[in-house]
Amino acid sequence: MAEFIGNTIIKLAQVDSTNNYATAHMTINNWSEGTVVITEEQFKGRGQINNSWESEAGKNILLSIVLQPEFLPVQHQFLISKVVAISVWETLSLLVNCVAIKWPNDIYVDQQKIAGILIENAIMGSTLFSSVVGIGLNVNQLIFKSDAPNPVSLAQLLKVETDRDQLLSKLLEFMNKWYSKLKNGSIDEINRTYENYLFRKGEEADYKDATGIYRGVVLGVNEIGQLLIQPLNDEVRSYHFKEVEFLF
Ligand code: BTN
Repeated sequence: MAEFIGNTIIKLAQVDSTNNYATAHMTINNWSEGTVVITEEQFKGRGQINNSWESEAGKNILLSIVLQPEFLPVQHQFLISKVVAISVWETLSLLVNCVAIKWPNDIYVDQQKIAGILIENAIMGSTLFSSVVGIGLNVNQLIFKSDAPNPVSLAQLLKVETDRDQLLSKLLEFMNKWYSKLKNGSIDEINRTYENYLFRKGEEADYKDATGIYRGVVLGVNEIGQLLIQPLNDEVRSYHFKEVEFLF
């Protein structure tokens, strides 16, 4: 299949948020699937659940990719998160060790967050109409000022700057590879790979949910993307986003 993610790249010096820009322009301007918006600076970068996303101007990768996964039933939408997280994992793993996907789609190196993903889906009937995939990747920033928990960048880990254009082309390459697999129906491979890269999978650690703090083991995720944790002394528990906290 021909590569198409990144065939059109819209470069902006600054913008409120690449996700906002893509959402506002993709329909009226009839953008083709795979169009990427990238910027040097966001003045209202958005994270999950109304958090902001900190990024020093000119230092990092801030982009949104427009997808039209019309083939994907709504109940399988977590597969988009999986292919994006896998692509970011594989990109970063070219440069550093100990990369992991912290459920649902934060990218960690050891115990620190190096990239965040914000996916905003529009649904039509029983399938997905569009998906705006926002990715923030900490590349050359050395100081983080916000109270975001444990951020880290490639420059902090590698002690040298990384060429952002090269990193971007690798990221788009992996996105093409994994989104094509999704289109081709290689679901088992996507599920297996996501679970292989999953943070704390099979390890004992502490968690906090509505019932309190407990020790358990991450088993994986179910079909609808819920996290499954086996408490040491209880039945398996399943969680939607924000229903469980990983304790460090
Ligand atoms: C998170 O909270 O972990 C998700 C962060 C996502 C940040 C990226 S940066 C590019 C895109 N535009 C935004 O406003 N947010 C996403």
